[in-house]
Amino acid sequence: MKLLVTGGAGYIGAVVAQRLLADGHTVEILDNLTTGHANMDLPGAVWHRGEIADAGQVLDSSFDGVVHLAAKSLVGESVQHPERYWHGNIVASLQLIDAIRAAGVERLVFSSTAAVYGEPGVEKITEDIPTRPTNPYGASKLAIDHMLTAEAAAHGLAAVSLRYFNVAGASGALRERHDPETHLIPNLLKVARGEAAEAKIFGTDYPTRDGTAIRDYIHVVDLADAHVRALEAAEAGRHAIYNLGTGTGTSVREVIEAVREVTGEDVPAAEQPRRPGDPAVLVASGDLAAAELGWKPQRDIREMVADAWAALQ
Ligand code: UFG
Repeated sequence: MKLLVTGGAGYIGAVVAQRLLADGHTVEILDNLTTGHANMDLPGAVWHRGEIADAGQVLDSSFDGVVHLAAKSLVGESVQHPERYWHGNIVASLQLIDAIRAAGVERLVFSSTAAVYGEPGVEKITEDIPTRPTNPYGASKLAIDHMLTAEAAAHGLAAVSLRYFNVAGASGALRERHDPETHLIPNLLKVARGEAAEAKIFGTDYPTRDGTAIRDYIHVVDLADAHVRALEAAEAGRHAIYNLGTGTGTSVREVIEAVREVTGEDVPAAEQPRRPGDPAVLVASGDLAAAELGWKPQRDIREMVADAWAALQ
């Protein structure tokens, strides 16, 4: 297939592009490089530096599909500056959908998020539970999901939303490089490398097995595999939605333990109050993605930490 990957200079986008290239697809990348990196090692990819609003200048009927990952994705920033998320995510994605329709491109895989569910308080999150985002980031992604449902019904787009849980790990040298870094595992690895004195545990009074928050960490390589399957399975006129996680929850303390084991370093961690807006537990049911995409994540938390650690060395 000939594919446009928006956000291909980002952490997840680059790994998705790498996998598509390895599978023999033709890959063009559209990225404005505000948070992404131009030096992602993706031999064979054609690069377009630009805004999503410019997608119409890149797309034509020779494209078989779009994988849309370009987005603003900081929960905290979305609370402080929601307008950036309405423009950067909702308006930009509408422009992209317009360009896809105008060019006659048939399929779209969209990177949605577990943040659309808010704090559901269920043991495993299935796709049919109510969506109640608790921040503008999640709300912006949910709005785009709604656009895709309507677009598929009205104009026949083959659309798939992939709702990522906590993405981690690396693919070779392709790794997470955010500034500022807010995510747990990269911050723990900074401490292991001696680049920060101590890690922070946000909240030790959650109603969980060890008092710290539980998340469903998913290896970025397994995640990329789901994108390939979604592209292949997308059906004209249908908007399919899949949660992508392992179905296994890991607490902050358990992640720290995994980092200590993998790195052999102490990784001192200070107990802090909860980070505002963090739910206690978010774990995916991967049943629908398994049933309809044949997708089964293969890599556990230890492998995520080990691969992220190796990519840093
Ligand atoms: N945490 C710490 N210390 C840190 C960083 C994080 O204890 O230094 C904790 C957080 O409080 C949370 C867990 O580790 O309980 C995971 O935090 P991350 O920041 O790594 O990830 P989040 O679960 O906050 O965010 C992820 C995605 C977001 C998405 C969100 C949906 O990165 O894009 O899930 O809830 F919006």
